Amino acid sequence: MLKQITRLPVWLVELFTGAKSFVANPLIGSQRLNRWGLHVGRVALAHGVMRLRMALLSWRVPKADRRQFIEQGYVLKHNYLPEAEYQALVEEVRHGPGEVRQCIQGNARTRRMLLAPEVLEKMPHTRALMKDPAFRRLMRFCAGHLRMPICHAEKVMNGVTDDAPDPQTNLHVDTFQPTMKFWLYLEDVSEHNGPFVFVPGSTCLTRDRLRWEYQMSLKAREHADRYTARGSFRVGQEEAETLGKQPPQSFHVPGNTLLIANTFGVHARGHAEPGTSRLALWGMSRTNPFNPLPGLGFESLNRLQYRVLQRMRQRDDERAAARGVRSSWHRVEGEEFCWSA
Ligand SMILES: [Fe+2]
Repeated sequence: MLKQITRLPVWLVELFTGAKSFVANPLIGSQRLNRWGLHVGRVALAHGVMRLRMALLSWRVPKADRRQFIEQGYVLKHNYLPEAEYQALVEEVRHGPGEVRQCIQGNARTRRMLLAPEVLEKMPHTRALMKDPAFRRLMRFCAGHLRMPICHAEKVMNGVTDDAPDPQTNLHVDTFQPTMKFWLYLEDVSEHNGPFVFVPGSTCLTRDRLRWEYQMSLKAREHADRYTARGSFRVGQEEAETLGKQPPQSFHVPGNTLLIANTFGVHARGHAEPGTSRLALWGMSRTNPFNPLPGLGFESLNRLQYRVLQRMRQRDDERAAARGVRSSWHRVEGEEFCWSA
């Protein structure tokens, strides 16, 4: 009881942040407060604030891109880079000089190399893309924030163990707030190597979506699915049909396709054949959902977010080592260092 009283101020403050777990925060998980509309209120407010920030950052972003992102929940651009530039970028990423870490979820292994400023200094083609004004405007609009998304090179390796399927292959929403993720694919993506699956229009705050959010908020805390209980709701196939404008779509796209999605929408990682993989530049942006200001966009703040992530990873390494295990995003070293190992 005493612990609950001392934790209460923290839980209260968390209501005004992106905190989403119905288990970790008893206020977010409270059936009574959610019956009074706490969760649905957070969803609606976060949605409105994001639309305002996107409007502030819409200058010189092509109208077709803005429209597709708002109405469908994604932007898809084929042949994003000139061919020669694209080929040079692929080569550069394949021999990337940064630290590679991996996370194993189910039978999938995801490897990422953080594109921190010191790594980008050795990657001129990747750096040129990150500095490109049109790319930055589009990223900032979709993120609803002046701070650029935190970027990695990413290789997803499918079916590397006999464990249960990757949990990302279940249709789900990431959280209650609009969240931007992007992929610039550096290889063709087909039904063989885990395409992104998305329900077009499922980012719109329709009456059906609000009703679903409300119903989920009443049962999330006790839900058998631990991801749902932590605020990343899993979505049934039939529910998915009602939450969007079309059935789930698989994005089978050639390399050099840029895909930006709002993962408040219903999505999944498509099924993949064991032994396949896909390489991409990947980034995400999730900011305070209730702050109506789009940030400052200073380069120093952009650099800071990489430092913070690097520190967090190091701290996780130390804690895991103290328990004699590997951290969830552990370093890949030695023979395994290269992307293709
Ligand atoms: Fe997701």
